[in-house]
Amino acid sequence: MDSKDITILRILDGLWETYEWVPLSEIKERGPPMPYEKKLRNLKKLDLVLLTTKDEMHVKITEKGQDTLAVWDFKRHGVIDEIGHVVGEGKEAVVVLAKKGDDFVALKFNRYYSAEFQKIKESLSYSAIKWWKQRLGRKNRPLDISRAKAQIEYYALSKLEKKVNVPKPLGINRHVVAMEFLGDQVPAPLLHQVGKGSGLKDEIIENYEAALKLGIVHGDLSPYNIIVYDKPYLIDWPQAVPKGFEGAKELMERDKKKIDDFF
Ligand SMILES: Nc1ncnc2c1ncn2[C@@H]1O[C@H](COP(=O)(O)OP(=O)(O)O)[C@@H](O)[C@H]1O
Ligand SMILES: [Mg+2]
Repeated sequence: MDSKDITILRILDGLWETYEWVPLSEIKERGPPMPYEKKLRNLKKLDLVLLTTKDEMHVKITEKGQDTLAVWDFKRHGVIDEIGHVVGEGKEAVVVLAKKGDDFVALKFNRYYSAEFQKIKESLSYSAIKWWKQRLGRKNRPLDISRAKAQIEYYALSKLEKKVNVPKPLGINRHVVAMEFLGDQVPAPLLHQVGKGSGLKDEIIENYEAALKLGIVHGDLSPYNIIVYDKPYLIDWPQAVPKGFEGAKELMERDKKKIDDFF
């Protein structure tokens, strides 16, 4: 991998809305002279692009290709120095440990599984995506769901960080959010692992109310989305919606009930 490979990936990434498969001639037009066919075959071996070669070669960037661009840009912008291993893998995201100086950073890579998304589309959890579409004024244009989720989470964390216990947001690139790492090389335990410690419930509710006061409903709160690291932190915000938005009230009631039920 060199900066020319990154140039190719960047061109492909920039054209995602225009082409499903980008013709080689379009890539060549946008990039400096280099042996494109050879480079692309190498990128394919690394699973960073897919190729079809009917008449002309056509290329598509993979999810791994987009991950690579995000990590490259986080380094370029000084958000991280190096990337480590996977520390968390949920239904809709992969969380990776990274380092900046002596500090640990969590990188959350949002994933898009179309089967999973079909289910979401019919559920309350879709409110956040609807809200974000409106906010971007993109009612009739395609939205990259993984990126939208990263943007919603980053927006919520930025709005809340001063008044609510959340991981401090450190950066966003494409479908990836960089945030403060809660734990010491390994993530601190989740509430469901810690159990019902004294005072935890009140502190969680206070934090939840503080978020509401700032106009934000979490939308996916549960003992699996609270990390206990000295104090309870509310994590995992891509389903957040503003208080007045459609579905917000039901989501708020569901969040509160899940905490009540646990305790
Ligand atoms: N800021 C963080 N610091 C440390 N670990 C984290 C952090 N954010 C997430 N994790 C770990 O990654 C797991 C998945 O993250 P989460 O945000 O809940 O995404 P999802 O549930 O959508 O996969 C969490 O259960 C937690 O163990
Ligand atoms: Mg989660």
